[in-house]
Amino acid sequence: MDSGNSGSRPAIHPLIVEKRLSEKNEPSPHRPIQRRLSIRTLLRPHLGSLTLGFVAIAGESLANLLEPWPLKIVLDDVLRSKSSNAWTMRIVHAFLGYDKMALLKFACAAVLAIAVFDAICTYGEKYLTTSVGQWVSYDLRLSIYSHIQRLSLAFHDQKRTGDLISRVTDDIEAIQSFIMNGLLGVLINAMTLVGMIGVMFYLNWRFTLIALSVVPALFVMVYSYTRRIKKASREVRKKEGEITSVVEEVLSSIRVVKAFAREDYEVQRLERESLEAVDIAMRARSLKAKLTPLVGIVVAVGTGLVLWFGARLVLTGALSAGGLVVFILYLGKMYKPMQEISKMTDTYSKAAVGYERIQEVLQTSVGVKDTPKARRAPKFHGDIEFENVSFAYNDEAPVLNGVSLQIKAGQVSALVGPTGAGKTSIISLIPRFYDPSSGVIKIDGTDIKRFQQKSLRHQMSFVLQETVLFHAPVWQNIAYGKPSCTRQEIIHAAALANASEFIDKMPDGYNTIIGERGMTLSGGQRQRIAIARAVIRNTPILILDEPTSGLDSASEQLVFEALDRLMQGKTVAVIAHRLSTIQKADVIFVVKDGHIVESGKHEELMKLNGVYAELHNLQFQDVVTAEVS
Ligand code: UTP
Ligand code: MG
Repeated sequence: MDSGNSGSRPAIHPLIVEKRLSEKNEPSPHRPIQRRLSIRTLLRPHLGSLTLGFVAIAGESLANLLEPWPLKIVLDDVLRSKSSNAWTMRIVHAFLGYDKMALLKFACAAVLAIAVFDAICTYGEKYLTTSVGQWVSYDLRLSIYSHIQRLSLAFHDQKRTGDLISRVTDDIEAIQSFIMNGLLGVLINAMTLVGMIGVMFYLNWRFTLIALSVVPALFVMVYSYTRRIKKASREVRKKEGEITSVVEEVLSSIRVVKAFAREDYEVQRLERESLEAVDIAMRARSLKAKLTPLVGIVVAVGTGLVLWFGARLVLTGALSAGGLVVFILYLGKMYKPMQEISKMTDTYSKAAVGYERIQEVLQTSVGVKDTPKARRAPKFHGDIEFENVSFAYNDEAPVLNGVSLQIKAGQVSALVGPTGAGKTSIISLIPRFYDPSSGVIKIDGTDIKRFQQKSLRHQMSFVLQETVLFHAPVWQNIAYGKPSCTRQEIIHAAALANASEFIDKMPDGYNTIIGERGMTLSGGQRQRIAIARAVIRNTPILILDEPTSGLDSASEQLVFEALDRLMQGKTVAVIAHRLSTIQKADVIFVVKDGHIVESGKHEELMKLNGVYAELHNLQFQDVVTAEVS
């Protein structure tokens, strides 16, 4: 973005942004992922706007300085008989002569001119700083969001969503607010300070040294307070992140809250967090409230010192009273920017903490990433092989131990085993949601780490235990699996997934909004939408994690029919607990305590009379008992 049009960047259609982003973020092995966004990188594209904004602020200050002048002309030169002889007035007289009416007109015109100049500068300054603030937050928001998308599931498993949300929203807002309200102000104040010190040295260097003698104390104070305020702000932001997390968690599981009648408890939980937040914020606030008055006191000490020494010089006749007054007036002007800067510490601290929190996310390593030599995966046949694979979610307890298995292209394989055995963990390794700690996973004989993640996942479809629907029309929810599909494909996929019968009955058919706050669907309907999502991708590999759990027999039947169609001609890994699915599988793997303990066809495993036979008999008993009762 160039600085010239940063204020009026043309509106871009959201889809174009999406396309541009997807092009920009296409993982390229040669493009190092930028991990640290320095302030310079962020501000560089806006240098032009910032400079202009700076000029505008300087113009504002100038207008403020000029404001009393027309009044002075009227008082001194129009209303009084004797005209003033100041050099500025001599210039005015040279142009306008001594005609009082002309001078009055000039003064009135000057009032208007100064006001217009001030208005233009103020507008320019507000417009430019707002625009820079907005574009910097835009850049930051996109960087952090796209980084969050790239971070591995292991990161998301640990991080609380609410905290991430608050980083993407509130922390960025703090930075934006500092850029809009503080950045240029601090610069102007710093420059005024330097200018004032220069003028004062010119007026009287001894006094200036006396006046500046309090500056070290001031500096130490502002520095230590800024550090403490920053620390306090950090805690405040952390607490705010926790509150967002609590709200996010509870609202997204409001069903559970209601089911267990824990509404009061949840309100109390938030109240407790909020009370702590108030407490921390009050502590931070008391620090902030102390700094400005303290600076005022130190400034008064400086003024007192100058008065003390100045008055004694006046008494001895070494200095005129007027000289002392002028100096004290300038002194006031020099201390003012210092006080202003100390007032900015709050906004600055919040922005600095926000920046830290954003950097923290940006610097988190992506985890599962493409190796520099990773290449696009060719079209898969679908042979999947695990060679002695071990895996742990965290460093401590391994979840999988030396798992070896082979699924041939076009085979339907079933994973069975007691709960917590590691079935979901095994299938999570195939799309590289996680990387194994040792061992190799191969597809068509090639280690999957040699493929780019995107091209790997493009050839797999998933139907998981819980289906997430987006707040969008039905057709978009189905097309999520293949954004480029046609309407015909969507309808075809819905038909194969046994979903068209209920979609057709919806008020707006395929355009009905479903998902969060849209029309709600039953478990079986959701599952069929998920299957349609997988059908439309038509990938050689299909991964199913208990796709029919929690369904009643009628919808299960419909889902099963759909699944059977979906599985045709694909390599399938299905975690199942239903006999019918398992018995049909070409190969069954029995998982227990992170190991594959048995594998083979149903009949073979039954003959073994081991873990599988036991599981089978237990369930068979259940079925029989259920039928009898
Ligand atoms: P799995 O989630 O792989 O078990 O967890 P499973 O076989 O699919 O179980 P069900 O049938 O769905 O219930 C295997 C182990 O990994 C741990 C779990 O505690 C479990 O002991 N685990 C799982 C983690 O440590 N972190 C996770 O994110 C998930
Ligand atoms: Mg599981």
